[in-house]
Amino acid sequence: MEKTKLLRKIKEEILELRESPLYKKRVEDKNFPVIGEGNHDAEVMFIGEAPGAKEAATGRPFCGTAGKILDDCLEAINFKREESYITNIVKDRPPRNRDPLPEEIKIYAPFLDRQINIIQPKIIVSLGRFSAEYILKKFHLEEKIKPITLLHGKPIDARTNYGIIKILPLFHPAVAIYNREKKDTLMEGFFLLKEILKKGGKNSE
Ligand code: URA
Repeated sequence: MEKTKLLRKIKEEILELRESPLYKKRVEDKNFPVIGEGNHDAEVMFIGEAPGAKEAATGRPFCGTAGKILDDCLEAINFKREESYITNIVKDRPPRNRDPLPEEIKIYAPFLDRQINIIQPKIIVSLGRFSAEYILKKFHLEEKIKPITLLHGKPIDARTNYGIIKILPLFHPAVAIYNREKKDTLMEGFFLLKEILKKGGKNSE
């Protein structure tokens, strides 16, 4: 089946995911699940944590305040957002933007695994500690798990069923909302992404 069809099937399944602890609230709040968006052949995949209020109201990932920071970082490195694929581990909004619970990660992560398998990115940029931890565990790199302050900006090779890829753990863009210094650190991580792309990718300038 072609990529678009496979991705559409994921969307259909998530829309009907009544067994999710977040399903009822999605319906009550007239929200949408946030499946992911972007290029189905993306070389870079950004993986966040879970949708916030604006994302759940629109069904689009990273379209609120944290998304604005992500857009600033992408603009700084001259990278078009639509060239990438952007998604989250958890596809429905946790109430009051609390951290995702282990059972929520458990129920939604298989969809993320399928998205990775379909898109087959060369670089996975994990945004925030939940995403870094999940991705490192997924690729059997548990021994690399450290606090996000130590992981940020340090690329790690991972073996996948379609070859060796790079994982680039970065801080979650939300850390930079009220913190200029953190925004500079975050931006440095994006410049590193640019370097990685220059070395090996079709997105290089
Ligand atoms: N934070 C996330 O982790 N993902 C989004 O889509 C928005 C905010």
